Amino acid sequence: MTIHIGAAKEDIAETVLMPGDPYRAKWAAETFLEDARLVNEVRGMLGYTGTWNGHPVTIQGSGMGMPSLSIYANELIRNYSAKTLIRIGSCGGMQDKVKVRDVILAMTASTVNSPSSSLFKELNFAPCADWGLLQAAAQAAAKRSTPTHVGGIYSSDVFYDERPDLNEQMVRHGILGVEMEAAELYTLAARYGCRALAVLTVSDHLGTGEALPSDQRERSFGDMVEIALEAAFS
Ligand code: HPA
Repeated sequence: MTIHIGAAKEDIAETVLMPGDPYRAKWAAETFLEDARLVNEVRGMLGYTGTWNGHPVTIQGSGMGMPSLSIYANELIRNYSAKTLIRIGSCGGMQDKVKVRDVILAMTASTVNSPSSSLFKELNFAPCADWGLLQAAAQAAAKRSTPTHVGGIYSSDVFYDERPDLNEQMVRHGILGVEMEAAELYTLAARYGCRALAVLTVSDHLGTGEALPSDQRERSFGDMVEIALEAAFS
């Protein structure tokens, strides 16, 4: 048990999928895992452990934003021995070629600020995905019809953005999409020698303003979960 996770140590698997939304953790566990059981409900941040093709897997909500994800990822790594952490979440598309419903595999995650920024002081650390996971996820994605993009994303601190100039620079430098968690996840994984990846579904587009209707979210999010699970155990 930790401050934010009520599970016993043996109830958390070495492989953890982390959606931002705790109800998506419930949906993914019930849809994709066998024998899924609730292992955490502290603060309503639901976590489930079950098996996928015989492999133990935990699906633990991270909450929204890097400060929240940082709490759960720190405790999963430092207190529960999680070794592979894969964010499954949504993002806003930033390039014309990136369409709503597409999948993005985040090779790097640029950020203005993260909970680790104070540690790095003047250093611009470059948070990046685990290469083996990224390669395996790209192979898993290639078997599916959903278009998949591999490249850099932007982990922002704000959803309601007051700095359009920053987004413009991100677009100009080829950044594929914006979300709010991956840079801190990649930084913690680097610090503690773990594997991390973010597999994202484009739920809206900053350029076109298009947004995925809620009734179509599930199918698109399903691809993302399957890609993450295949990558973890390939
Ligand atoms: N901004 C930040 N995070 C997001 C967005 C966005 O537009 N869409 C989905 N997650």
